[in-house]
Amino acid sequence: MSETLSSRTHDEERQGEAYVSTGGEPRAHRKKFYIESYGCAMNFADSEIVASILDERGFGPTGNYLEADLVLLNTCSIREKAEQTVRNRLHLFRQVKRERPGMLIGVLGCMAERLKGKFLEEEKLVDLVVGPDAYRTLPGLIEEAESGQQGVNVLLSRDETYADISPVRLDSNGVTGFVSIMRGCNNMCSFCVVPFTRGRERSRDAASIVRECADLFERGYREVTLLGQNVDSYYFVDEAQDEIVTFAKLLEKVALIDPALRVRFSTSHPKDITDEVLHTMAKYDNICKYIHLPVQSGSTRVLQLMNRTYTREWYMAKVDRILEILPGCGISSDIIAGFCTETEEDHQDTLELMRYAKYDMSYMFFYSERPGTLAARRYQDDVPEEVKKRRLDEIVKLQNRLSLESNRRDIGKICTVLIEGDSKKSAADWRGRNSQNKVVVFPKGELGLQKGDYAQVRVEDCTGATLIGKVI
Ligand code: 5AD
Ligand code: SF4
Repeated sequence: MSETLSSRTHDEERQGEAYVSTGGEPRAHRKKFYIESYGCAMNFADSEIVASILDERGFGPTGNYLEADLVLLNTCSIREKAEQTVRNRLHLFRQVKRERPGMLIGVLGCMAERLKGKFLEEEKLVDLVVGPDAYRTLPGLIEEAESGQQGVNVLLSRDETYADISPVRLDSNGVTGFVSIMRGCNNMCSFCVVPFTRGRERSRDAASIVRECADLFERGYREVTLLGQNVDSYYFVDEAQDEIVTFAKLLEKVALIDPALRVRFSTSHPKDITDEVLHTMAKYDNICKYIHLPVQSGSTRVLQLMNRTYTREWYMAKVDRILEILPGCGISSDIIAGFCTETEEDHQDTLELMRYAKYDMSYMFFYSERPGTLAARRYQDDVPEEVKKRRLDEIVKLQNRLSLESNRRDIGKICTVLIEGDSKKSAADWRGRNSQNKVVVFPKGELGLQKGDYAQVRVEDCTGATLIGKVI
């Protein structure tokens, strides 16, 4: 099977569209499944686990839902808009099913978990509802659905990590891959639905993570991104080796696979990222100097309501510490505009903190109340929509300026770029990323470079989103 992988970011608003797996070479599959993934990178990684489970049962991937026996939507609940997008897709697939009654439709992921049987009972939109910890039961549920029953399993688990399942890489570039290292989340950020949809935090067996990364490297991959809702609280007791593996230790183990394998990770909670992690990053050239460090708000009062457990000053000191140990490290953030009770002054605090941190990039959202969360139960969603949107607009404009300034500071510098493929605009140019996770585009020329190679590139120009350079 030709297996490649692409880098995906957090959610549909970040990417603007869902991703459809086109799959690899057909093996002797009796049936075809089609899967669309929404939301965060975890969800895309989960779809690859699902593909592996289905592959075992004779289902091969197709990029065309009109020929699929099974249509799956791996869904996200993080904001209302994400859920609405999925509902619209479900109505479309329902119409397709009228013409092809044998086709099964399934909802996976966070929306399945949040809405449980509602899909089957109230809306009669789907045949299968499977939560993030129940994918192993998919084959049985499909059989139930094929015999006309409802296939539902939304049980959350305390120990499922799918450690032994080797993901089937979907839509991959063959250079960069995601590797799940933990599941669930124990933080109770008051705005967030994830603890309810993905359950308790649990860490995956360290040896299985290292094996998966080494296997990717052997197959030509040159970058792995270790994924978890809160990677810095990774903690695994390896009884066989009599060893406690912290996130810093895990990073080191993966970095030691080969100096030519780049290591990234996402997401870090500012309260949990330790000096030990920062020193490990400093020690290994192949651990990328980039940290996604979501701040959410720049106001201590709002941070407290969000239950983020740090103050504005504490976060600023963390940024200082990162740059002290890792000068030039790329830092990005997630920011929510218009959380409950947010005043104009709180909003100004957020803008000021953004200027302080000089974020290279941010993912920015306006607050969307999620049923069942602490904030929905305790606070009023009282910032009017037009105010939320205006504040978000100011945040986005400031970030655009900060990104451009950050890129301009790189002009004249030389960076190591891992080539991921052709530039989107021209097949005469390569596209890759530098250690700081910035996209770099440069002419291919006659250099004989290939996808998966490293190139030394001098930055000569930039836009807000891209560095433009030449190989030296
Ligand atoms: N409303 C808006 N944004 C949210 N996020 C999480 N929950 C919400 C919500 N209810 C954002 C946070 C988080 C990112 C993945 O999504 O910024 O870090
Ligand atoms: Fe990922 Fe969170 Fe969305 Fe679930 S709700 S898909 S964990 S971003």
